[in-house]
Amino acid sequence: MHIEEPLKALNAICPYYTMFPLDFPLRVLQGRARKGDWVVDPFCGRGTTNFAARLLGLSSFGVDSSPVAVALTQAKLADARVSDVVRTAKGILDSMPSRVAVPNGDFWERAYEPAVLRQICWLRKDLLRDCSSDSRLLLRAILLGALHGPRTKLAASHLSNQCPRTFAPKPDYAVRFWRKRRMKPPAVNVVEVVRTRARRYLSQRPAYTPAHVVLGDSRAAKVFESRQFRWAITSPPYYGMRTYIPDQWLRNWFLGGPAHVTYKPPARELDHASADAFADDLRKVWMGIAASAAIDARLVIRFGGIADRDVDPVTLLKSSLSDSGWRLTTAVSAGDANAGRRQATQFVHGGPAPKEEYDFYAVLA
Ligand SMILES: C[S@@+](CC[C@H](N)C(=O)[O-])C[C@H]1O[C@@H](n2cnc3c(N)ncnc32)[C@H](O)[C@@H]1O
Repeated sequence: MHIEEPLKALNAICPYYTMFPLDFPLRVLQGRARKGDWVVDPFCGRGTTNFAARLLGLSSFGVDSSPVAVALTQAKLADARVSDVVRTAKGILDSMPSRVAVPNGDFWERAYEPAVLRQICWLRKDLLRDCSSDSRLLLRAILLGALHGPRTKLAASHLSNQCPRTFAPKPDYAVRFWRKRRMKPPAVNVVEVVRTRARRYLSQRPAYTPAHVVLGDSRAAKVFESRQFRWAITSPPYYGMRTYIPDQWLRNWFLGGPAHVTYKPPARELDHASADAFADDLRKVWMGIAASAAIDARLVIRFGGIADRDVDPVTLLKSSLSDSGWRLTTAVSAGDANAGRRQATQFVHGGPAPKEEYDFYAVLA
């Protein structure tokens, strides 16, 4: 089945740290998945697996412990016209009062032009109150994608002063950077940014498929709701990779989180204290999926190591699969993690550098 490129556009609605390429789950499913199959990703991130399932007309289930990941995955499964999304944004902004509470401090003053910040805060408040419709889910993800990123000479695509787009800047560093270069935040037209992005991502819309996304901990078997999955395609956090929430603190703020970075480990974080503890946690996830899997189910995992943890990712992943209800059939290199458009290409900001990545294929034991 050939999928036209414009139908894939929605996948790029917002970058996500350590996302894997859409081609990976597509390649696994294409030609093998049958109509009516359910696909699960227990670490769904920006919903790449779920979106691949949708493109192929399959139902999907996603779990992630990060609110940013869940918001993006929900948007990948939503369906609304460009005009509906723009109308929703305008409607919310039309009801904006003259005074809107905004976060204080140097970072916020330099990150956003005052009128833009007021609009962002009002949109945030209204979307926190109600995000039940598909046009609101899509608007929220469009705003998450536009919240920070580089400034361009042409029409603005982001709402912020110069920033990286994949991860949120550290506030003190960003303030120093802007001050030194005398960079002022741009007075962008928020509705126009939404319109341009909505056209980019929603001009062609893939057909709707049944899907469900959960904000939760995939180590808890009950999170999978006893569905009969035929495919599980996923990429867990790599051992030692613990910065999903701090790296997304601005997008997390937009979803109701604090207006500052917190480095406290999130409650649902896998146990990174040792490779054995980490493998034990992953085993719980594989066991939970096995308990909800169809008899001929397949589990496909992309996993790698990071340079500051001297642990062999193949040994760790194999150990997590032992006594998990799954039998490993193949483990192959996914290629050099630093090459091409692999998920690890996102590790560009001096965080832990990735080592090689591997793809693991397993069947029910
Ligand atoms: C490597 S990323 C997945 C990226 C995804 N394949 C994509 O394309 O965007 C791993 C994800 O696992 C999530 N995660 C970490 N611990 C979790 C847990 N206990 N339960 C569910 N998700 C978790 C992180 O928030 C992160 O989004």
